[in-house]
Amino acid sequence: MKDFISMLVLTALTYLVIAIASRVVLAEGSIRIPTERSPSYQTECGSCHLAYPPGLLPAQSWSTIMSSLSKHYGADASLDPKDTQAISAWLTQYAGTYKRVAEAPPENRITQSYWFKKKHRKVKAGDFGKPSVKSAANCNACHRQAEQGNFDDDDVQIPR
Ligand code: HEC
Ligand code: HEC
Repeated sequence: MKDFISMLVLTALTYLVIAIASRVVLAEGSIRIPTERSPSYQTECGSCHLAYPPGLLPAQSWSTIMSSLSKHYGADASLDPKDTQAISAWLTQYAGTYKRVAEAPPENRITQSYWFKKKHRKVKAGDFGKPSVKSAANCNACHRQAEQGNFDDDDVQIPR
């Protein structure tokens, strides 16, 4: 009888662990945006594309990006030294440190990250090139709540 009870407890515990683990996986689609906002990040870095959550790139990538703004992926995104300094400090402070973003991706592109490719392996290349999307970097074309840090696959909608 005692053995039976401990079996029961063990089974219950196993289910609990599985339930918690799957919740953690489900929460992956939501990317935390620091509560301490940078005053100029949204205006200066959110005019041409989404103001990407800092946690999506490692500090090394943000530093490189912030020190070469005049040659920014074919655009000139130069800022005055004060804004550059403030945004750079904020981005590196809240940069991603967990395993999947720890390494600088090619061209310091979120869209070239290993995890990005893996998460989007079922998205057709043609969907990223649609006129309504333009590029994989245009997250908010499909993730309508990207501004709020919501990238959940339940809320994603590829436009026509
Ligand atoms: C004048 C327009 C403009 C401004 C302002 C701008 N960017 Fe960009 N950014 C671009 C373009 C164009 C691309 C390339 C997009 C593409 O490949 O579709 C880009 C790409 C990026 C990427 C890589 C996206 C990917 O492919 O994963 C990052 C990161 C980025 N910008 C960060 C910033 C930061 C930080 C700032 C503010 C300091 C900023 N951008 C301001 C035009 C701009
Ligand atoms: C063409 C539309 C499109 C664009 C653009 C796009 N995504 Fe996605 N994304 C999707 C789809 C569709 C899924 C769900 C894929 C699946 O379930 O197989 C997804 C999944 C994800 C997930 C995983 C969500 C989860 O619940 O596990 C993350 C994180 C994510 N995208 C981030 C981004 C970021 C960051 C960008 C921009 C740099 C971006 N996406 C650009 C369509 C897009």
